[in-house]
This record gives sequence, C-alpha cells and structure tokens, in this order.
Amino acid sequence: MNPRHTRSLTEGPSPADAHAPALPYPDGWFAVAFAAELVPGTVLTRPLQGEDVVLYRLRDGGVRAVRPYCPHLGAHLGLGAMEGDDLICPFHRFAFGPDGSCVRTGYGTPPPPSSDLAALPVREVNDTVFVWRHHDGRAPDWEPVTWHALGTRAPRFAAWEMPGHSQDVVENTVDLGHFGPLHGWGESEVAEPAVFDGRSFRVSVRSRERVPLLGESPLEVTLEGCGISQVHVCTALPRFGVRTCALYATTMIAPAAFQLRQASRLDVAEPGALPGPAARWLSRSLTRLLAGVMFRGNCEFVAQDFPVWATKRYQSPPRLARGDGPIGPFRHWARQFYPPDRLRAHVPSSVRSAEGSRSG
Ligand code: FES
Ligand SMILES: [Fe+2]
Repeated sequence: MNPRHTRSLTEGPSPADAHAPALPYPDGWFAVAFAAELVPGTVLTRPLQGEDVVLYRLRDGGVRAVRPYCPHLGAHLGLGAMEGDDLICPFHRFAFGPDGSCVRTGYGTPPPPSSDLAALPVREVNDTVFVWRHHDGRAPDWEPVTWHALGTRAPRFAAWEMPGHSQDVVENTVDLGHFGPLHGWGESEVAEPAVFDGRSFRVSVRSRERVPLLGESPLEVTLEGCGISQVHVCTALPRFGVRTCALYATTMIAPAAFQLRQASRLDVAEPGALPGPAARWLSRSLTRLLAGVMFRGNCEFVAQDFPVWATKRYQSPPRLARGDGPIGPFRHWARQFYPPDRLRAHVPSSVRSAEGSRSG
C-alpha cells in the first residue's frame, strides 16, 4: 500500500522521555563551552538546565560565568560586549567590573545599590569550561577531576545536541555489554573491575579493534567518570604505538535534551629505526594522518550510541543479565547527584534496593 497524504504523520521511535522525563536534572559541574571558544573579549550565552548562562573571559585569562539578566532592567547580558575587563549591558550601558560589581551607569551617575551581577561558580579544566549547578543553590562541595593532557598536539573538538538524559552517556561507559553488539568490539574482557570512589569511578577493558588503513590491534581502554557530567576514555593500540584520550562532557539543557562535547587528543610513539630528520618527518606525517583517522573514528564510535540515547527511556529496574557491566553499582553511585526527594518520586524503594543488588 502506498497511502497518500501520510508525509506529515509521526512515525518511528519517539524522542527519549519526551512526555515524562524519568530522571531530574543532576547536580554538579557541567560543561558549557570549550576553553578555546572563550577568547578574551568574547561574550557567550550557553544553555544549562533550562536557563541561560553568560560567559566571558578577562584579559588575565580568568573566566566569569553569570546569570543572564541585568540587575538594572533585565536585559540579556549575552547581548552585551566587553570593554577591557568590564561587561557592558546593551540596554543602558551599565558596566560591570571583573568582580561583578556595577562600576558605572551609562548616564555618568552613581551605580544603584545592590546591583552586582549574580556570579556562578566556574572552572576551566580538561580543555573545557564547567559551571556549577545545584538544585538547592548550594556552593560547590567538590571539584571536577583534571585528567592528563596526552601528547603535545592541540585537541580536536566536536559537539552534538540531542533528546535524552546525560546519565545515559555516563552509564554507557560501564555498560560493558554493549561494546560488542553496538560498537563491534570483539573478545572484550574486564582488565580492572569498576571502582566507584566518591564522585568518580574507573574501569579498564581489554579488547581488539580494527582501525581504518591500519588493520587490527589489541585495544586497552580505561574509562573514568566524574559526576553525571564528564567521562575520560583512554585507549592504547600497542601494535601501532598509538594512544588516544577523549573527554566526553555532557550537559542537560532541558528536561529531556542534552549536549555532548568531545575533546580528543592523540600520542604516537616515535619510529626509532630511522635517522633524525626522516624520523621527525615520518612522525609528523604519521601523527597528522592518525590524528584525523582516530578523531573520525572517535566521532563515528560515539555516534553509534546517538539513536539509542535519543529514543530510550530510563529503565528502572533494569532486567540485567550475566555479561552486563556494573550497571547496578553505577546507579547506586549516581544517586548522590540527584535531589533525594525527586529521585524517590521516580524510583520506588523496592526498585531501588533491587537496582543496588544487581550487577554484571
Ligand atoms: S537593563 Fe542593563 S543597563 Fe539597563
Ligand atoms: Fe557506547
């Protein structure tokens, strides 16, 4: 049958949790920009959990994050501009100094009382700018982990936005069962079992991977997470002398939508058998080639998850099987990042205890 007038009908899987998000916004540090985007003089507006955040960089390199509305009459400061280290509101040109205080009006009159900008805690780590957000307005009581910066080359960046919940990105790293079926890894085994410690976790896996142009190699992967916001994936392909690390930073922007930022770095062992200049030329050319191949590979790898994340629901309790990763311990660990009352409303106590007791 080839029915007419069906082009506008909805079909296919619905967006993830579009009608009833199963998890609330998490608390913690969340990526709002790559550090390289925020050059001095730039004013950026970025979404974070249903609100805008305005970012700018001072001449000494310091980063500021503020709520978006001017204390004077509410203009959006994301439309403003920097003059030296002052943020200038576009509406009446009130100026705000590096500490957020109003230093002058556009009329040459004294600033009004209580007219400071509402500053947000901000950190710059792992090539990324993170802003703190807590459901009850609490000040930061932990810091985002700083991971190593592999090699000497600048990182390569990518970013995506899709329906779903950011916890699925973080949970993905301990979902060891999906690496074979979805990503095509063969013969995976856990090299170091998952350890959940405070705000972080870590697990190591051994497998094999086929790299375009190069062939197959044993693959060693260490996966680390920090909060419901960032994951560090470190891989080694010993046969080719290649190591990569990629930061994945994920940020809820609306109740059922998130952004994902990827910053990838690459390191290649020097080819030792050749004399100096030839070795350097070969190393540079090889590194350039491999950087492109591995970066595209990283992007394609993570994109294999996108259709699943964008249409799945938070299955609670999950019906886990032998061969799954430590999903149960992960979910137990993840609860610390949510408002307890909101989570309880979503996950009945009988289900919570079942989740905690199951793992692969
Ligand atoms: S609203 Fe910002 S200066 Fe008036
Ligand atoms: Fe995945």
